[in-house]
Amino acid sequence: MAEETPRAFVCGHPVAHSRSPLIHGYWLQEHGIAGIYERRDVAPEAFETFLRGLARSPYVGGNVTIPHKESAHLLVDRRDEAAEIIGAVNTLWFEDGSLCGGNTDAYGFAANLDSAAPCWAEGSVATVLGAGGAARAVVHALRERGMREIRIVNRTLARAEELAYRFAGPASAHGWDALPELLADTALLVNTTSLGMDGAAALVLDLAPLPSSAVVTDIVYVPLETPFLVKAKQRGLRTVDGLGMLLHQAVPGFERWFGVRPEVTPRLRALVVADLEATA
Ligand code: ATR
Repeated sequence: MAEETPRAFVCGHPVAHSRSPLIHGYWLQEHGIAGIYERRDVAPEAFETFLRGLARSPYVGGNVTIPHKESAHLLVDRRDEAAEIIGAVNTLWFEDGSLCGGNTDAYGFAANLDSAAPCWAEGSVATVLGAGGAARAVVHALRERGMREIRIVNRTLARAEELAYRFAGPASAHGWDALPELLADTALLVNTTSLGMDGAAALVLDLAPLPSSAVVTDIVYVPLETPFLVKAKQRGLRTVDGLGMLLHQAVPGFERWFGVRPEVTPRLRALVVADLEATA
């Protein structure tokens, strides 16, 4: 009997903007795999039915994006450690008939820095701006990589405190006004807020107190060079944009569904950059 074509998806609402089909489509072609990766727009009220129907569908798995990551975390049969800790699922697959949920955002965040600024974890003091869902993945990655101090800075202090409590040990919570002091010995500064994103307000921050050895990264990638990264560059600091996190987080899913570990290459990046520019 002929083997079935492996089929995977990204589900979100809306999902038209997702670059995942471009990334996985590129790898499928590169590796000569006759697989399919497609968009599925699933409204929140239809998500549970969609997920419960997967076992009887042609899909081997898929990605979950906004606004379904937290629901997926609650609905899967099993979760990997990262999904358990972060409280959100972005990758689905089957094991022995069970629907499994993983979170590859923390992996993607660290792999992007490994590739773009290999010494990033050596300074061991990180300051994270924001305390939403994206910050949870980032703080998990930083703790996994042994950062000694992880300062979570948020407009709403209570959210930073909640996150610091969840990652007790290296994590602490601070208000925005503590930044000048915190920046003075920060080795890695991460923006996880939506500030700087196209259409949102800019992230206004005086980067003067940062040491000249600091690495600055933004998880926003539209625009690719956020005003925050431009300012850091102007100060002569090493910067890492957020697109690499998107590319790297896709690697473990592709490997699970299609059986080959793909690589994040300059060609893939150029393809996605061209798409971002075309739709800007
Ligand atoms: P995500 O899941 O993408 O992280 P989120 O949970 O909505 O999204 O979190 C957005 C983050 O950006 C939060 O840390 C938010 O701060 P608050 O918790 O105080 O809302 C931050 N953010 C959004 N707009 C902001 C603004 N104008 N000034 C400062 N922080 C802002």
